[in-house]
Amino acid sequence: MPEQLPYVLILYYSRNGQTAELATQIGRGVAKVNGIEARLRSVPVVSPDTEASLPPVPDAGAPFASKSDLANCAGLAIGSPTRFGNMAAPLKHFLDTTGDLWVSGALVGKPAGAFTSTGSLHGGQETTLLTMMMPLLHHGMLLCGLPYTDKNLSETTTGGTPYGPSHWAGTAEQLPLSKHEKALCQLFGERLANLALKLAD
Ligand SMILES: Cc1cc2nc3c(=O)[nH]c(=O)nc-3n(C[C@H](O)[C@H](O)[C@H](O)COP(=O)(O)O)c2cc1C
Repeated sequence: MPEQLPYVLILYYSRNGQTAELATQIGRGVAKVNGIEARLRSVPVVSPDTEASLPPVPDAGAPFASKSDLANCAGLAIGSPTRFGNMAAPLKHFLDTTGDLWVSGALVGKPAGAFTSTGSLHGGQETTLLTMMMPLLHHGMLLCGLPYTDKNLSETTTGGTPYGPSHWAGTAEQLPLSKHEKALCQLFGERLANLALKLAD
C-alpha cells in the first residue's frame, strides 16, 4: 500500500458557500508544495432538536470531518463565517468535542491558523480570526498568519488580514473573492504546508 502523504486539514463551516470558497483557495496554496496535500472537511449544522441527526456524508461540499482527520493532520486551517463578530456555532461545537485531543496533546507543536468571511467590511473579521485562535492555542498549536512582505496585504481594498485570510462577501453575498483575497488564501495554504513539513522534521 502506498504511504499516505502528510496533510493540512482545512476544516470549515459554511452556510452560503463563501467560507467554502476561501477553503478551496487555501487548498490550492497547499497543493503548490511538494510532499504534502490538502484535506478539506466541513462540519454539520447544529440543530436545536437534540434528536436530529444528519447522514455521515453531506449532500454538497466537503465531507464532514472525523476526529481522526484532526488528530492526524500535519497542519490545520479552520474557517467560519463571522457570526456576531465570532465563529459560527457548528465549528465551535466540533471544536468542543476535541477535549480528548487536548488531553493527549495530539495537536501540540503543529502549525495552525484561521480564515473567515463577513457580510460587511467592518463587521468583525479580525475579532473572529483572533477568537478562533484561542482553541488553537489551548491545543498547543503554533499560530500562522500572513506577512506584509506580500504586497496583496497592503493593496487589498476588501478582505485579507495579517491575522489570516478573509473575504468581504457583501450583505447579499454578492461579491466574489477578489484577486487579492484569493492570492492571500493561497499564500496562507502554502505557508501552512511549508511550516507543517518543517515542523514535522
Ligand atoms: C446569524 C448571523 C450573524 C452574522 N454576523 C455577522 C457579523 O457579525 N458581521 C458581518 O459582517 N457579517 C455577519 N453575518 C454575515 C456572514 O458572516 C456572511 O454572510 C458570510 O459571508 C457567510 O459565509 P458563508 O457563505 O460561508 O456561510 C452574519 C450572518 C448570520 C446568519
